[in-house]
Amino acid sequence: MKVTFETATGETVEVEAAPGDNLLKLGQGAGMPLEGTCEGQMACSTCHVIVAKDWFARLPEASEEEEDMLDLAYGVTATSRLSCQIDLTEELDGLAVRIPAEARDMRGI
Ligand code: FES
Repeated sequence: MKVTFETATGETVEVEAAPGDNLLKLGQGAGMPLEGTCEGQMACSTCHVIVAKDWFARLPEASEEEEDMLDLAYGVTATSRLSCQIDLTEELDGLAVRIPAEARDMRGI
């Protein structure tokens, strides 16, 4: 199965994945700038990704904890998710997500 990551600069990277893979780990392995500081403990939101609209509804719903954490994420959208909370299944073959513009932009350059 494949997952497509779109970088903040619009470049797309297609990654070979397997059911059971965690989306955060997969993205990190592909060199995406996903910090994942809390390693999936839902305490950081640095693993935030924007899911392609067509795919968003096909993901298992976010828990309340995830929603709360997303509220704090930078550049959050209606289809935002925490990638550490998404484990891939065969149904998600072809999943496409975008990496938000880096939080570093907040330094006000
Ligand atoms: Fe911290 Fe996902 S890695 S919330």
